Amino acid sequence: MQPKRIEESRVILSQLMHPEHANNLGNVHGGVLMRLIDEAGALCSARHARRPTVTVAVDSLTFLEPVQIGDLVTFCARLTYVGRSAMEVEVCVEAEEITTGERRLTNRAYVVYVALDAAGRPAEVPPLLLETTEERERWEQGRQRQAERLARRARETPAATSACRRPRPE
Ligand SMILES: CC(C)(COP(=O)(O)OP(=O)(O)OC[C@H]1O[C@@H](n2cnc3c(N)ncnc32)[C@H](O)[C@@H]1OP(=O)(O)O)[C@@H](O)C(=O)NCCC(=O)NCCS
Repeated sequence: MQPKRIEESRVILSQLMHPEHANNLGNVHGGVLMRLIDEAGALCSARHARRPTVTVAVDSLTFLEPVQIGDLVTFCARLTYVGRSAMEVEVCVEAEEITTGERRLTNRAYVVYVALDAAGRPAEVPPLLLETTEERERWEQGRQRQAERLARRARETPAATSACRRPRPE
């Protein structure tokens, strides 16, 4: 498969935050930001794969500062690491106060998507063409995060450890 550049699948989404996006404190609800982070990341992965993709893991999602109603919020998504069918996307979120133009980095997340074939099975995706030292460093960090996720998955998979299960009396 022909390798593809990171720039080819980069996604930038902007959304003005309205009162319906507020939480009880009057700031933007974290779940609203999470949905848009996932949307930007999913588009980025699907652009690279040119296939439908599904979210398989979200980690390192940080909330650095609250976002205010009236802010213009921009979600920038770019690939960091690609396996056979799995792709890690870094999504950065910036909030812009429209009257002053001040921009703040408010969130960062790493989200993993899997490309699916027509039968819903994981499908191979093009490799990443790494063009700069920075891209190679990000790729290596992504590779390490993915190895940690898979080790965690192996440890945590048993359904018996689910928080949905009631504890049995000892
Ligand atoms: C995505 C899905 C089809 C993968 O199925 P699976 O049986 O785990 O398949 P595999 O074990 O072959 O894994 C496929 C790829 O996902 C990666 N993967 C699976 N679980 C992962 C996890 N928890 N974290 C990171 N990567 C993971 C694997 O490493 C593999 O990557 P590779 O092909 O690059 O080596 C299945 O987990 C699924 O349908 N999940 C639900 C997805 C969903 O509904 N998302 C929400 C709506 S979009």
